[in-house]
Amino acid sequence: MAMPLKATIKSWANSRFAPARLVYRVCHWGLFGCRLVADARFRSETVGAWKHRGHYHQRPTYTEANRYPVLFAECTRHCAGLARPKLLSFGCSSGEEVFTLAQYMPQADIVGVDINDWCLAECRRKDIQHRHTFHHRRSAEYEREQGFDAIFCLAVFQHSDNRSNADNSVAVGHTFAQFEENILLLDAKLKPGGLFIIEYADFRFTDTACAARYTPLDFPKNRLLRRHPLYGPDNRKVADQHDSPRIFVKQG
Ligand SMILES: C[S@@+](CC[C@H](N)C(=O)[O-])C[C@H]1O[C@@H](n2cnc3c(N)ncnc32)[C@H](O)[C@@H]1O
Repeated sequence: MAMPLKATIKSWANSRFAPARLVYRVCHWGLFGCRLVADARFRSETVGAWKHRGHYHQRPTYTEANRYPVLFAECTRHCAGLARPKLLSFGCSSGEEVFTLAQYMPQADIVGVDINDWCLAECRRKDIQHRHTFHHRRSAEYEREQGFDAIFCLAVFQHSDNRSNADNSVAVGHTFAQFEENILLLDAKLKPGGLFIIEYADFRFTDTACAARYTPLDFPKNRLLRRHPLYGPDNRKVADQHDSPRIFVKQG
C-alpha cells in the first residue's frame, strides 16, 4: 500500500489542483526535513553540496564492497611487478573501495580522497589499524600527494539529475571545466606507466587536455555499452549511451 500512495502523491507535484500540489509539497519537504535531522549520511550530502558548491560532482555517496571486480582485477594484474604500488581512490565515499583494493593488493599504499567530511570520518573510523590515508579533496594534504601507480575515479564525475531529469540536454550540477580541472590535477599525480581508471562519468576523459598522453588499456572488457548520458566540452549532451574506455595507461 505504501508504494502506490507514494507514487500517487509524487504525481501531484504538477497537478492542476492547488490542494493536491499543496499535499505534495507538505509531504516532500516534511520528508526532507525528517531525513535531514535523522540521517547523518543524507545530511552530509545535502550540507556538503551547499558548503562546497562549485566543487561538487556526484552528491549521493552510495558505494559497496567489490563494486568493480573487473577493474580491480586489471589493476592488480598491471601492478603485479611493483613491490608497493601507490593507489588513489578519488571519491572514496565511506571507504569500501579502499578496503576492497587492500584485499586485492595487500602490499599497496592506498589513499582515499573525498569532498564529504562525514564520509572521511567513516573511512577513518573503519580503518581500525590505520593502514590507509584519507584526505579531504580541498585539503593541502591532497594537493601535496603525488607518485600514484593507479588512480580510480569511479562514479564520481557524474550528477544524478543528468540521469533523472526529463530534459537532460545540458549538463546540470557540474561542468566540463570542473571535470577537466580535476582530471588535470590527477594527471599530474599519476606516474608514467600508471593507470587512470574512470567509470560512470558524464564527460569523456578523451576530451580533456591531457588525454593525448594516454592510451586505452588493451583488455576485453575495457569498453562496455552503458545507458548513461554523455556530455561534450560545451556541456551539451552528445549521447544517451556510450562505451568509453574505462582504463587508460599514461605514456612515458
Ligand atoms: C557515488 S559515490 C562513489 C563511491 C565509490 N567511488 C564507488 O564507486 O562506489 C561518489 C562520491 O564522490 C564524492 N565526490 C563528489 N564530488 C567530489 C569531488 N569534487 N572531489 C572528491 N570527491 C567527490 C562524493 O562525496 C561521493 O562520496
